[in-house]
Amino acid sequence: MTTTEPADASPHTQPGWWADRVGYQVYLPSFADGDGDGWGDLTGLRQRLDHLAWLGVDLVWLSPINPSPMADHGYDVADYCAVHPRLGTLADVDALLAEARDRGIAVLLDLVPNHTSVEHPWFQRARASRDDPYRDYYHWGDPAPDGGPPNNWVSVFGGPAWTFEPATGQYYLHLYAPEQPDLNWDNPAVAREFDAILRFWLDRGVAGFRIDVAHALKKAPGLPDQPEVPAAQQPARLDGRAADHYAIEHVHDREQPGLRDLHRRWRAVAEPYGALLLGEVYILDPQRLATYLRDQDGLHTGFWFGLVESEWDPAHLAAQLRAAEVTGPHLAWVQSSHDRRRAPTRYGGGQMGRRRALTLAVLTLGLPALPVLYQGDELGLEDGHVPPQAYQDPLARRTGGALSRDPARTPMPWEPGERLGFTDAEQAWLPWGGRTDADTVAVQRADPGSPLWAYRRLVALRGALSGLRGGPVRWHATTPPVVAYVRGDVLVAGNLEAHAATLALPAGRWTVRLRTQGSGAVEPDDVVEGALSLPGEHAAILQREVAAGEG
Ligand code: NOJ
Repeated sequence: MTTTEPADASPHTQPGWWADRVGYQVYLPSFADGDGDGWGDLTGLRQRLDHLAWLGVDLVWLSPINPSPMADHGYDVADYCAVHPRLGTLADVDALLAEARDRGIAVLLDLVPNHTSVEHPWFQRARASRDDPYRDYYHWGDPAPDGGPPNNWVSVFGGPAWTFEPATGQYYLHLYAPEQPDLNWDNPAVAREFDAILRFWLDRGVAGFRIDVAHALKKAPGLPDQPEVPAAQQPARLDGRAADHYAIEHVHDREQPGLRDLHRRWRAVAEPYGALLLGEVYILDPQRLATYLRDQDGLHTGFWFGLVESEWDPAHLAAQLRAAEVTGPHLAWVQSSHDRRRAPTRYGGGQMGRRRALTLAVLTLGLPALPVLYQGDELGLEDGHVPPQAYQDPLARRTGGALSRDPARTPMPWEPGERLGFTDAEQAWLPWGGRTDADTVAVQRADPGSPLWAYRRLVALRGALSGLRGGPVRWHATTPPVVAYVRGDVLVAGNLEAHAATLALPAGRWTVRLRTQGSGAVEPDDVVEGALSLPGEHAAILQREVAAGEG
């Protein structure tokens, strides 16, 4: 006999409510267009909330909704306490929060504190005069003796991290595009502004924030030059960053003293609301990452990008999964995002890529604290096709398409047809991406063997199996082919190699609650004992049977 308990459906009221839930990233410009202008928006999202409820996710993170000239598609904010007119209104936010709450879904906003837009009134004032009180909201530096930038820092998007401002004769710092000047977090006024921004949205009922660039807000005093990396030691893979960004060692522009104090400050603001702080702390060393993610203060949880930065390499992937041993139960598990190639593409594409991504999804869906799907993961989507003349991403434009985030951002395919059910407009802001009917939500919903049904079953099991909630992870097999762990009465196993393999099971009888089959999944409920056979690149979730008299 096996036991199933319903998941607690309470909305975000209890402290720690996010633990062992399932999150979903909505990249708003590409999710659903409600007003027919070719851009996704809040109305479109509201119209599609039932998809998220059907999928079973508990929490949605929205990419930035604020007014923005869209130099970096919303990550250049011109007003933190308003909504971009193209995306909706404050009333739409209120309606979204209420409608999401009715479906048991909490909503996180994207907070972008490292930089503003050049069009933010603070920067408009700051750039106009050296004496303006807002000048010190940003980092300024005198030209070097040759007239060049004040130091050798390089932007994540390539090129100098400094732009000259002729009106006042100094350079301003931007770790990203020139349209994204970095805020000076040594200025207490900046911290006070953000306390108020957080409260503004928390008072409206948002459940917390995904915090952009949470690792680089503080810079080293005096902004010293950074050491150069010898050419031979520069990485072969660019991971979405420009090559010159890797030619210097980033020892002064990230993970600086005082960073945790900022996180703590936000935690103190968020705590009375029971709100979640989910950091984009881009640190690929679990030991260092762990120091920012804590039970008592700082950020509650942070993305683990070990999988996002990986190709299909079984031993490497197995090691990335075990990051949780170091960080404790604080990781948000992601395989794809709006910033990197989609997982099925990275893993080789086609059925193979989809099957591999699903295998890893099974392995992460059982881990604490928070797996987060990127829109389209549930459809097994690969990258969309975006021809060079259609590039929108500033990174693509700067690198001639060598590094483009556009393919991961093409419109969500809802229905077969020219416009994918995404919009009524002739064109969307990005090309359609070359989606097939089989990629769409409508077609996959009608096919129980589809990726969509597989992800739905997986999300439902996470809620239904009490063993997957709260308890520690005990690794049962850590080296490929099969990687497996036990949580409570549940065993999660994935074969990362291409050949079939067998896993010796802990004692007892085990019910197979889910087995992947290609890029779909079934719930066979057969019982195994002693050993589990898994075809190459497939996964399963097992539940220990309660012996007669035990229960
Ligand atoms: C991370 C965001 O995910 C990315 O899209 C953006 O370009 C940078 N931060 C800068 O805000």
